[in-house]
Amino acid sequence: MPLKLTRRQSLTTLLAGLLPVLTPHGAMARTPLRIGMIGSGHVGSTLGQLWSRAGHEVMLSALTLREAQERVEELHFGSAGTSHDAAAFGDVVVLAVPYGALQQLGHTIGPVLNARPLIDATNPYTWRDGKIGRQALLEGAGMVTQSLFPTAAVVRAFNSEDMTTLLAQSNRPPPRMALPMAGDVARALTMAGWLIHDAGFDPVVAGGLSAAGLFQPGGPAFEAQMDADDLRRLLGVTGDSAVERSLAARFAAAQASGGR
Ligand SMILES: NC(=O)c1ccc[n+]([C@@H]2O[C@H](COP(=O)([O-])OP(=O)(O)OC[C@H]3O[C@@H](n4cnc5c(N)ncnc54)[C@H](OP(=O)(O)O)[C@@H]3O)[C@@H](O)[C@H]2O)c1
Repeated sequence: MPLKLTRRQSLTTLLAGLLPVLTPHGAMARTPLRIGMIGSGHVGSTLGQLWSRAGHEVMLSALTLREAQERVEELHFGSAGTSHDAAAFGDVVVLAVPYGALQQLGHTIGPVLNARPLIDATNPYTWRDGKIGRQALLEGAGMVTQSLFPTAAVVRAFNSEDMTTLLAQSNRPPPRMALPMAGDVARALTMAGWLIHDAGFDPVVAGGLSAAGLFQPGGPAFEAQMDADDLRRLLGVTGDSAVERSLAARFAAAQASGGR
């Protein structure tokens, strides 16, 4: 009889199988951050794993606290909490849920976030996410997510590649794979850039939130799997924004001090 794995079993198997090939991190781009993860499926578990290995502190949440606790027991990193706990915990909070859940989460965790950075790693799909998914595909997920979390400093990032690709390409020999990000608030973009770096990739600023459509499903840079130079060419950006200059200086300093 064929062996049918539950989603949780397949996640744990995938991460456990790939762990030995992930390069251990040296110094991070900055001091450890507290990361509140909303959702702990493929995206939450994968990003949480990469950041935890880099030295960041991750709190995983799920639909229920029990589910989050089981995920933490299986994955052997981080702590478990409710969505509210994770939103309160994070210096930065990451959305890793179906896009259709964002309306409800805007009400439940939006007020807790205040103006903190909110990295939106979700993708909208018409077949799964109903009316709000259609709206995000039409108007751009960046703008729609910002409207659902009006006080937060939203950055769209980590949504453009499949998690299997991220695990396989993390910290590959130079040129590293690049990940696009888009946002309107410089300090939030900077934090997302650190986290892209610490996950083992090169950050590329695509522009403000309105540029996030370029790397959502249907956009030219979705699943582009390129290094930074090629990705900038595709996006039509030069890489000389203030955020990218400040990130480059930080990464050079981290490398000089023995990290990457
Ligand atoms: N999979 C990929 O490679 C990939 C890559 C880029 C972007 N994305 C996008 O990232 C998002 C997450 O994808 P995924 O593959 O990680 O999905 P997934 O494996 O189905 O995980 C979804 C997570 O969200 C939680 N969740 C669902 N509804 C929720 C709600 N209303 N409140 C709080 N938590 C809720 C689930 O809780 P339970 O565990 O309790 O069910 C689960 O932990 C999606 O928007 C997807 O399109 C996916």
